[in-house]
Amino acid sequence: MKKENINISLPSLKEAKIRKKVDIETIIYNLDPKYKDLGKGKNYYIFTYGCQGNEADSEVMAGILEGIGYVKSDDPMNSDLVLLNTCCIRENAESRIWGVLGQLKGRKRDNPDMLVGICGCMPQEPSATKKIIESYDADIIFGTHNRHNLPKLIYEAYLNKSKVVEVLSNQGNILEGAPKVREESHRAWVSIMYGCDEFCTYCIVPYTRGTERSRSKDNIIKEVEELVKAGYKEVTLLGQNVNAYGKDLGIDYTFGNLLYDLDKTGIERIRYTTSHPRDLDELTMRAMAECKSVMPHLHLPVQSGNNDILKIMNRKYTYEGYMEKIHRLRELIPDISITTDIIVGFPGETEEQFQDTLKLVKEAQYEGAFTFIYSPREGTPAASMPDSTPEEEKHDRLNRLIAEVNKGYLRGHEKFLGKVVKVLVDGESKNGEGMMCGYSEHYKLTHFKSTDKSLIGKIVNVKVTEAKTWFMIGELCD
Ligand code: SAH
Ligand code: SF4
Ligand code: F3S
Repeated sequence: MKKENINISLPSLKEAKIRKKVDIETIIYNLDPKYKDLGKGKNYYIFTYGCQGNEADSEVMAGILEGIGYVKSDDPMNSDLVLLNTCCIRENAESRIWGVLGQLKGRKRDNPDMLVGICGCMPQEPSATKKIIESYDADIIFGTHNRHNLPKLIYEAYLNKSKVVEVLSNQGNILEGAPKVREESHRAWVSIMYGCDEFCTYCIVPYTRGTERSRSKDNIIKEVEELVKAGYKEVTLLGQNVNAYGKDLGIDYTFGNLLYDLDKTGIERIRYTTSHPRDLDELTMRAMAECKSVMPHLHLPVQSGNNDILKIMNRKYTYEGYMEKIHRLRELIPDISITTDIIVGFPGETEEQFQDTLKLVKEAQYEGAFTFIYSPREGTPAASMPDSTPEEEKHDRLNRLIAEVNKGYLRGHEKFLGKVVKVLVDGESKNGEGMMCGYSEHYKLTHFKSTDKSLIGKIVNVKVTEAKTWFMIGELCD
């Protein structure tokens, strides 16, 4: 095993919690010529776990790697450089990653020249980083705030033959001008802000991603304009709480303003994720109703339907306040499709409190939800709250919740039976030979009969003939 670099400093959750709100650094990516050919003749593979934020970061890291000569590989176990862009949102997210690390450990024994890098959210956690350093053979460990330093970290790992650890527990920065290798040529992620200041008591994200910091509106608009020029049809605006966009910039410009401005760029479809219910404002809802390109689907995580639980979660809204926004949304956009995230088994949640969540799910008429059993995250306030609910009880709640949520998925598809929907074609469908698929405006996965690959990236009309729980089937119209 390689010896460790002397300047190892473990991340600190305490430091990561500090919000100074000053001096957010914008880093303009600038490649030092000495790293220009570092990856020449070598290939790379990136494993991406977690949220869309990580997917967007992986596209940046792929861009940086290809910019120094690396070529993408499709075989992780036989690559010169393997990066794991990790997630630690719940315990099971981490367990999967420990499994892959175990496999790579074996592979590295046979191929000592292989470089393994661990990045993303896990290295921002002190206990995970310690475990990685002690028990796994990773060469480079870096966090979410220093992906622009990748060439330097790789260089040091090759040169020093020692483990390179660079994890910063600061408020983070904004990276502009880095190259990107986008996964798709018709849909693109556009990060509009980074970090989170909400500190929901169960959540690790504010510690791993730093303070809320918005990109300048001009840079975002320019990126979308360039995507339009390059033929992209859809952008998804990304942030942990996009409704807080602009708050840190000290200008009178909010997320709603940004939607109106992006609508003028000529992009056909705009989606965004994630919205915090407290910050979802009238201007944003109006923009959804008035801007043709803003799609009629909203993911609005509720987490719980019980006011006491919402309070201990630090969500800063109530059942009633949340439902008021849902009613307003339906008033402005009558056919809107709304989805959500829900946690069951939060410490101390009683059966009655869980019943409030079930009640809200019925009332909100969700057309989908990601459902989770609460997972304690070391260092977060909820992890030290007493929790006496047995595991089986939590699973039982989850199953009852899923049964209700699944009715919503089906209902959300049935409402389009016999109607013509506009589908942005992604590619061949895994649902059967001779089928293609894509998403409708309401974000419904739609399969239709066709073998015409020239449709990929185009928006086509499909008449819905069958509605299933997880997708719709239809026929291509002229
Ligand atoms: N910023 C987004 C997404 C955060 S992570 C938001 O606020 O909605 C995605 C989802 O993971 C959360 O909405 C929440 O439902 C879930 N989650 C976060 N921490 C969790 C934990 N400790 N245990 C279980 N689920 C969790
Ligand atoms: Fe986590 Fe809450 Fe921030 Fe979402 S808003 S990332 S759940 S702290
Ligand atoms: Fe996971 Fe980090 Fe995203 S913990 S959900 S990858 S912000």
